[in-house]
Amino acid sequence: MKKRVTTVIMAAGEGVRMKSKLPKMLHSVCGRPIIDYVVDAALDICDDAPILVVGHGAEAIKEHLGDKVRYTYQEEQLGTGHAVMMAQKYLEGMDGYVVVLAGDTPLITGKLLGDMVNHAVEHDYSCVALSAIVENPTGYGRIIRDVNGDFSCIVEHKDATSEQRQVKEINASMYCFKVQNLLESLKKLDNNNAQHEYYLTDVLKILTSENKRVGIYCADDASYIMGINTRVQLSQADKLMRLRINNCHMDNGVTIIDPENTYIGPNVHIGQDTIIYPGNVIEGDTYIGEECILYPNSRLLNARVDDKVIIQNSVVLNSQIGEETTIGPFAYIRPGSIIGGHVRIGDFVEVKNAAIGDGTKVSHLTYVGDANVGNGVNVGCGVVFVNYDGKEKHRTVVEDNAFIGCNTNLVAPVKVEQNSYIAAGSTITKTVPKGALAIARARQENKEGWVEGRNNR
Ligand code: UD1
Ligand code: CA
Repeated sequence: MKKRVTTVIMAAGEGVRMKSKLPKMLHSVCGRPIIDYVVDAALDICDDAPILVVGHGAEAIKEHLGDKVRYTYQEEQLGTGHAVMMAQKYLEGMDGYVVVLAGDTPLITGKLLGDMVNHAVEHDYSCVALSAIVENPTGYGRIIRDVNGDFSCIVEHKDATSEQRQVKEINASMYCFKVQNLLESLKKLDNNNAQHEYYLTDVLKILTSENKRVGIYCADDASYIMGINTRVQLSQADKLMRLRINNCHMDNGVTIIDPENTYIGPNVHIGQDTIIYPGNVIEGDTYIGEECILYPNSRLLNARVDDKVIIQNSVVLNSQIGEETTIGPFAYIRPGSIIGGHVRIGDFVEVKNAAIGDGTKVSHLTYVGDANVGNGVNVGCGVVFVNYDGKEKHRTVVEDNAFIGCNTNLVAPVKVEQNSYIAAGSTITKTVPKGALAIARARQENKEGWVEGRNNR
């Protein structure tokens, strides 16, 4: 039977141990803010917008998440129980279940939360707490079970006896409650403990004492419930997420030579039989087609790369690359570039806000800025598209099959018509007509015997 489920995400804490000006929830794991993963997992299981408890850094969090969630403000952080009290106004009169989460657990998935909810529904529990077995439980609340192995209580590390501290089953700080049971118990919470906080964990004790049934759902992989409190944990979470993302691509038919040293964001698509060497950083909404090869050490951000492209030691930002094109080594493709198919962009070439047609070659040491370059064009070594006059940027147009000799300056705005040639070393300031040869440089003059003459002076 499907039950109505809503979610509360506790995200008001300061995150002191991060030692950061940025709110903890906005720190990134694999290039995406922590809170986004938690909100996504919540959205997977709930029927309405998650309720987010905010406090520290509330403005920045609101600006980031917008109306994806409903907000409630916790002015003073008096504990996790107090945080959930702040969500009461949304929960009153509601039937069904509420899943409570912490905002600092980016590795959680909708699947695991759904399993916890199903466990609660199937056994008609008033509450199910998510737990896991960890090697080092220091700092976590411990799950204490009775002689039958049923839930007894949760003790915080700071309140635990040395015997209780031996327990390796920890509280994940994620729960599924029957809404009405939660609301009734919150009224009875106190802050009689080592930290003088209202502990949400005490709600479970209250429920048990009133003969309501509390269950435990133990996750078989503790990495899913990992919370982030420090930068060391942030890097550990990043690594776990990285491997999760990379495994998913490998399962889809992508070869990743060294998954520990390949950095792919959560919104990246990669086609089958593409091969990725170490040191690549692939970010944002990047799309990579099939049978591409990314040799080591490139960065791609919001790139669209068609099939069979080869990229090596290069940077591609907010740009498109057509099929069977090769990029690099050491190319810099800046935003707004649309590069066609079968193009060669070679070493030390910078392209900015330029369209480059199919089959064009820009092989070495060139700047192509603010230009429309046609098909089959050959751009020699050391060409500069001179796009800036000190005040404004101007565009250059190079039509199909033009040949731009080495060390040419194309001073924009300027047009090079189709099938024309430009002699090496030219500085072009006016239209080169179709089929013409333009030579725009001083003629060579040879002074015979000049060296001998100087030496005898
Ligand atoms: C909590 C649990 C502990 C569990 C651990 C798992 C309690 C009393 N303890 O401890 O059993 O093992 O999580 O990581 O619940 N928050 C608020 N307002 C507050 C206090 C906290 O919004 O007043 C938020 C924090 O921003 C954070 C989450 O609640 O996202 C957890 O709070 P935190 O202080 O980190 O709890 P722990 O001490 O880690
Ligand atoms: Ca915590």
